[in-house]
Amino acid sequence: MSQASPPPADRAPVPHHVAIIMDGNGRWAKQRGLPRIEGHRRGVETVRTVTYAARDLGVRMLTLYAFSAENWNRPQDEVGALMGLLELYLRKELETFVRDRVRLRTIGRIEGLPAGVQRLLAATVEKTKDFADYTLVLALNYGSRNEIVDAAHAYAAAVASGKATPDDRSWESFERHLYTAGMPDPDLVIRTSGETRISNFLLLQAAYAEFVFTPVLWPDFSKADLSSAIADYARRERRYGQTSEQLKPAAATP
Ligand code: IPE
Ligand code: IPE
Ligand code: MG
Repeated sequence: MSQASPPPADRAPVPHHVAIIMDGNGRWAKQRGLPRIEGHRRGVETVRTVTYAARDLGVRMLTLYAFSAENWNRPQDEVGALMGLLELYLRKELETFVRDRVRLRTIGRIEGLPAGVQRLLAATVEKTKDFADYTLVLALNYGSRNEIVDAAHAYAAAVASGKATPDDRSWESFERHLYTAGMPDPDLVIRTSGETRISNFLLLQAAYAEFVFTPVLWPDFSKADLSSAIADYARRERRYGQTSEQLKPAAATP
């Protein structure tokens, strides 16, 4: 084969960090006359598929909104079933992550999760912490408003102990105290199931993210759907406050 330049699709920029609001498990189950938990069970299968699909497509970091701070308000049996599924998932994935070199990280108030889940998370995070190529971030008991409150609290404590100065009003100094400290901001945020809201997810970090909303329900979300969201992202122009003209490389002189 000749060394011709690759087709345009291959040159398309791939988002470094993709974050997904996985929504629609309940509706998927309802459409089939199944209990909601069956939708969640299928949703876990999609988590597995998408974790590897994203890596295959060149994504380096994938954040999945798995359980919001507000999801505790669901019926007790659904919350219990979700925690059970999470524990089962972590138990199964631990070895797989080590084998496939997937780094696991979490964001959210992890201390509010059941003790068994916390132990599994801590073990998996520890065992995978040196993998540098691909990171899966699970947002668990996560809410942006809690995150801001927790960050302000940690910042105040840093000031009180002399580790931070109150006059340093830079974003860089503040963001160090967010759950996402050290993580790049999401480039692309996807929400499935047709809802077009952010539901308290990465409010600060998504300041300049591109959004893709798809009607596909999470259990049906496939590698092709992810690929099409990435293709959509590649067509966008991220201007960060500048004009389109400023972003174009200066015309080459003849
Ligand atoms: C997303 O699916 C899973 C979680 C929020 C845990 P939902 O359970 O919200 O599904 P719908 O929105 O009721 O269809
Ligand atoms: C957002 O989905 C939370 C997760 C995907 C974990 P929800 O289904 O809880 O969001 P709302 O309540 O419809 O906004
Ligand atoms: Mg929902």
